[in-house]
Amino acid sequence: MTTPPSPSAVDCYDYPQYWDLAFRDETLFEADFVESAFEKYARLPLRTILEPGCGGGRLMVELAKRGYQVSGFDLSEPSVRYVQQRLRRRSLPGEVFVGDMTDFTLAKPVDCVVNFVNTFRHLTTEEAALAHLQHVAAALRSGGLFLLGFHLIPLDADPECTERSTARHGQTKVTLTLRVVDFNRRRRLERIRFNLRVKSGQRDLKLQSEYDYRLYTRKQFLQLLAKVPQLELCGTFDFNYDIDEPVPLDDELSDAVFVLRKRDE
Ligand SMILES: C[S@@+](CC[C@H](N)C(=O)[O-])C[C@H]1O[C@@H](n2cnc3c(N)ncnc32)[C@H](O)[C@@H]1O
Repeated sequence: MTTPPSPSAVDCYDYPQYWDLAFRDETLFEADFVESAFEKYARLPLRTILEPGCGGGRLMVELAKRGYQVSGFDLSEPSVRYVQQRLRRRSLPGEVFVGDMTDFTLAKPVDCVVNFVNTFRHLTTEEAALAHLQHVAAALRSGGLFLLGFHLIPLDADPECTERSTARHGQTKVTLTLRVVDFNRRRRLERIRFNLRVKSGQRDLKLQSEYDYRLYTRKQFLQLLAKVPQLELCGTFDFNYDIDEPVPLDDELSDAVFVLRKRDE
């Protein structure tokens, strides 16, 4: 038996090919949800989509394949380069750039903005989160949608939490373990340790990062949303992404996907 290498402390987001693989099973559900939410709630046809914090671009690439005009940005330069290459290799159009969710402007407004899998919770202060919502509202056309998915942490949630998932593609096997290593309800922060183990042929890579996430109860998110009156809450779903199964926005809900529509100006 070989001894696994010790994990290297890196920014896991600078390894988008592995991060992306770990979440690829979600992609088709998310892309289908974008289309069906648009059909049900938007007041315009879907042509242009922006993904802030696009990571390795799994969703952008899928949406570009379906014929939408996609754009996206991320703080991580390796991620941005990776998505640019992926689009180029498939001869798909799309604009990808380095940018910050709290401060971005687009040359033209878009029909839809998508932000799934807790990316929003990387904004660890109320000011940063508010700035994101305000910039999204400014980037949207009236009648367009902002689809926002992240974990609400109900007051009675167990702060001790570990999740593990494994994904395979060809010879490559990626195991992602997420562990809450600090939880502070008063400061509204939890610290999550990511362990990414990649095995591919002779290769055995162990990467480790820790990220702070902002905590939200249902009430705290609604209080934040009330500060951005341009965005209207149309429906709430869970991570099953089933448009025919809206879920009640109550204190039980943890895996929340919000459908927000830009009001007429
Ligand atoms: C959880 S990953 C999600 C990636 C991608 N959206 C997906 O669903 O696969 C979060 C991404 O957000 C990016 N990120 C974190 N803070 C950011 C910020 N302030 N502005 C832009 N991107 C940010 C990270 O670099 C990372 O790629």
